[in-house]
Amino acid sequence: DTITPIPSPPGLPIVGNATQINPVAQRQSFSDFADKYGEVYRIWLPGKRSIVMCNSHRLINELCDEKRFAKVPNGVLAEIRNGVHDGLFTAKPGEENWGIAHRVLMPAYVSSRSGSIVRPHFFYLSEAVAVQFQRYSQINISQMALKFARYGPSTPIPASDDFTRLALDTLALCSMGFRFNSFYTKELHPFIEAMGNFLVESGKRPSRVLPSFFYRADDAKYWEDIEVLRNTAQEVLEARKKHPNDRKDLLNAMLSGADPKSGKHMSDTSIIDNLITFLIAGHETTSGTLAFAFFRLLKNPQAYQRVQQEVDEVIGKGPITVEHLSKLPYITAVLRETLRLDAPISIFGVVSLEDQLLAGRYPVAKDEPCALFLTCAHVDPAVWGDDAHDFKPERMLDEPFSKLPKNAWKPFGNGARACIGRPFAMQEAILAVAMLFQNFNFVMHDPSYNLAIKQTLTIKPDNFFMRAIIRDGLS
Ligand code: HEM
Repeated sequence: DTITPIPSPPGLPIVGNATQINPVAQRQSFSDFADKYGEVYRIWLPGKRSIVMCNSHRLINELCDEKRFAKVPNGVLAEIRNGVHDGLFTAKPGEENWGIAHRVLMPAYVSSRSGSIVRPHFFYLSEAVAVQFQRYSQINISQMALKFARYGPSTPIPASDDFTRLALDTLALCSMGFRFNSFYTKELHPFIEAMGNFLVESGKRPSRVLPSFFYRADDAKYWEDIEVLRNTAQEVLEARKKHPNDRKDLLNAMLSGADPKSGKHMSDTSIIDNLITFLIAGHETTSGTLAFAFFRLLKNPQAYQRVQQEVDEVIGKGPITVEHLSKLPYITAVLRETLRLDAPISIFGVVSLEDQLLAGRYPVAKDEPCALFLTCAHVDPAVWGDDAHDFKPERMLDEPFSKLPKNAWKPFGNGARACIGRPFAMQEAILAVAMLFQNFNFVMHDPSYNLAIKQTLTIKPDNFFMRAIIRDGLS
């Protein structure tokens, strides 16, 4: 008698709740439903597809049990899969290529349990790689810093756009030695353009309500964009095969690595799938994190000052070295707290492996998709207290952070399907914050700006502008 049916917002015949979900602000629609229905509700999409939306820590904790739930690429991920197949991000459970790629690359990205970077477990586990990555990142961050300096103190900086350029350039350079040079070119590289279009269209396709005939032009463009992505990645691969080098990047790791379990190597198709996957999975997430972090810091002057103080005390005015990065606990905490309040991937999905009850009372069916909605779960007062909505990096310093309840903080996903690029992303973000604070004072361009969200595959601050003033004595 404790069994409780999961509530559903009333919808329309055939399309279900699809028309109540704002396609460009899904996160807001889901939050609004959560305000009304509480920790769990079920939405219905065209084709009688349902999703059980879970909003509390105790339910998310259950969805993280890999014996009961598994990641299956549904919705947007199923659309992205059209472009990158069984690459790491979009693979189905048990697919052979996922296993090979995962084991070939995993040593490259061993993440520390506390979320901080524990050298030498970074990238390829070796000092040489960490240093090389550091150098590549710095090239790109310096290009961005030069641009900020050229802007001068009064020009508004479009934070989300510039951090996106930075993250993409860094990823392309570190993973395949490719230079987009986004800070130097007015026109975006055709690959970037195609990737943007592909992601936007992938986001729209699952909520189509008209017969496919109406989407012929969109479909043609979608497949064309996929071809641009794949052809570019193929050219990069062919060029590397023709002119091998000993760079310690992902492309070489994929070309030379053998799966310790089967002895197999990754196929060319799988390498192409994963090259594109890294750019997709890694650039908007990292740039969103940086943009949100700057927004939060500019709204919280005390936290801003502590970051400044840490940079000045630990690094000073000289060059930043790899050793510095593990000695910046406050910046690390700022990024973790940002990822709690503004997780760029604010929702991810699993399916139920059996007919079962959630929290001992809510029935879900075998194969039914369930979503971990971090926007709500990350502010669950049961874990975070009454000030859950406040930005307080102190609660994310190593000591409290390592004692958080299990599965309370999930911005990097879960279990075997968690983010493989986590240490990479954290290192890049820490480095970017440190370098920028070393060289500039930042102010909000419009102090009355309130956070607005732009949503594609990920979320980012929309229309957020800041200004950068070169710090005294550093010009
Ligand atoms: C998976 C978040 C940066 C590559 C994931 C997942 C999340 C996530 C939530 C799981 C998605 C799901 O379950 O469907 C983030 C965040 C980042 C970040 C918040 C930055 C702050 C990166 C970077 C890379 C990357 C820099 C590449 C270098 C991947 C890949 C997967 C993944 C390949 C799929 C792993 C698998 O299923 O085997 N990420 N990510 N991510 N991420 Fe990241």
